[in-house]
Amino acid sequence: MDPRAIGVFDSGLGGISVLRACTALLPQEDFLFFGDSANAPYGEKDLAQVQALTLAGIDHLLAQGVKAVVVACNTATSAAIALLRSRHPGLPIIGIEPAVKPAAQARDSSQVIVMATPLTIHEDKYQRLAAAFCHQADVISLPCKGLAEMVEQGRWEGEALDAYLQELFLPFRYCNVDYIVLGCTHYPFVRRAIRKNFGRPVEIIDGSDGTARQLRRQLEGAGLLAQRSTPGRVTFQNSLPDRLPMSQALFQMDY
Ligand code: DGL
Repeated sequence: MDPRAIGVFDSGLGGISVLRACTALLPQEDFLFFGDSANAPYGEKDLAQVQALTLAGIDHLLAQGVKAVVVACNTATSAAIALLRSRHPGLPIIGIEPAVKPAAQARDSSQVIVMATPLTIHEDKYQRLAAAFCHQADVISLPCKGLAEMVEQGRWEGEALDAYLQELFLPFRYCNVDYIVLGCTHYPFVRRAIRKNFGRPVEIIDGSDGTARQLRRQLEGAGLLAQRSTPGRVTFQNSLPDRLPMSQALFQMDY
């Protein structure tokens, strides 16, 4: 039994979608969420910058005594998870990656669009993942420059978002797409707009629940569950303090 909090990190507000899945699965745990909105978006920076920012973000959480860390950012995971694990051996570190596997394995010969940041798609970790399932599905990688930033700015619906998404989905107007994978933790907050502007029936999935299950497995395996009967606390921190009200709003948002 370990009452210390679990640290959850993202480049900004997006990781709150993962935090929600984690709190739903582990309601008795305390969580400390740190979003680095001052430096978002990570997905349009270069690899070395994202690595340095991610290491600093995790150090910020560790300095506050967390027992495990969830990197609730596909971009930071692809850029820095190996570095983090070599720097903090023994610390449970859970990353997130685009949910290509469940989408590709769900039915035969499906078409799967993976929406993610330019850096996630560029990195080797994602390229290997997509290649591993290309015999099971037609995996189409779709870098979404600017979309995470819209979520950061609170544009969760409206004309600018609709116009952006319509332009993005134009090439797929006549394709039979079965799945859209949300490969960036910011995108679940605009799931409704994605569905509306895609304009055809499609399944939309993300990796938050899988990440939460992985967190539970690791804590169980290491004997680190809090095991109390009272509900845990959720604390938000952000490198841009004026994002804290938005963090609360996203934590409670119906999407
Ligand atoms: N939320 C992050 C992810 O899952 C990226 C957003 C950003 O570009 O900062 O990839």
